[in-house]
Amino acid sequence: MTAILNVKNISKTYGTKGANAYTAIRNLSFTMEKGEFIGIMGPSGSGKTTLLNTIATLDPVTEGEIIIGGTSLSAMNEEQLSDFRSQQLGFIFQDFNLLENMSVFENIALPLSLRNTAVPRISATVQQASTLLGISGILEKFPAEISGGQKQRTAIARALVHNPALLLADEPTGALDSTNAAILMETLSDLNKEQKVSVLMVTHDPLSASYCSRLLFIKDGEIDQELHASNSREQFYKEILEVLAGTGGAR
Ligand SMILES: Nc1ncnc2c1ncn2[C@@H]1O[C@H](COP(=O)(O)OP(=O)(O)O)[C@@H](O)[C@H]1O
Ligand SMILES: [Mg+2]
Repeated sequence: MTAILNVKNISKTYGTKGANAYTAIRNLSFTMEKGEFIGIMGPSGSGKTTLLNTIATLDPVTEGEIIIGGTSLSAMNEEQLSDFRSQQLGFIFQDFNLLENMSVFENIALPLSLRNTAVPRISATVQQASTLLGISGILEKFPAEISGGQKQRTAIARALVHNPALLLADEPTGALDSTNAAILMETLSDLNKEQKVSVLMVTHDPLSASYCSRLLFIKDGEIDQELHASNSREQFYKEILEVLAGTGGAR
């Protein structure tokens, strides 16, 4: 198996040393294989977003090292990090962040347009991504004219259009009702299984988490427990609830 992500003994301290310093991540390590779908769970304030932001190259670690696809983030300067981010990473945001004055096509094309990709190539790639997500029929529409589910699919197509090594999502179902949350998770799960997209997702929702292949439970900035998917999603869901209730045994 090939590691897509190596998180090696990272710590993240906000503020300068002394009374104002707060350590949100403590000596945390894990490895993610290519094609895994990892969920990060944990109470509010446990460091989930901090962890995701360090992997997203948005925030430097205080100690340790993060390696994505063999490249160490600490070896790069700001400009290199920015290029790396736009080429190797895809992002799904809680509110989807679609640009209202751009069509679905233009929204999906954004990561390519920002990289000065040639127009015929953009067109072909957007067609491909939108077909994959089942939204090739609405490319000329604007976000205000499409349903919530279609907005999600547009956001996912945009996150995947440049074929990123790693897809990162922070609470992607946080603002959705349970029906749309399930649709989003089914879509991510299909992309993971069929297209082998590697997904790292932060969630506090046990149902969303049950679509993952592995879960890391964070507590006070450390990995407290790890859970691998069971044979059925229903069984995995039960096990997740047990861990959250504090009744799950060490496995
Ligand atoms: N920019 C920051 N400056 C100082 N403290 C921060 C900053 N961002 C987060 N924190 C603190 O770090 C801890 C972890 O935050 P966060 O990673 O957002 O947790 P989670 O996403 O699990 O709710 C919290 O105590 C939070 O207050
Ligand atoms: Mg958070």
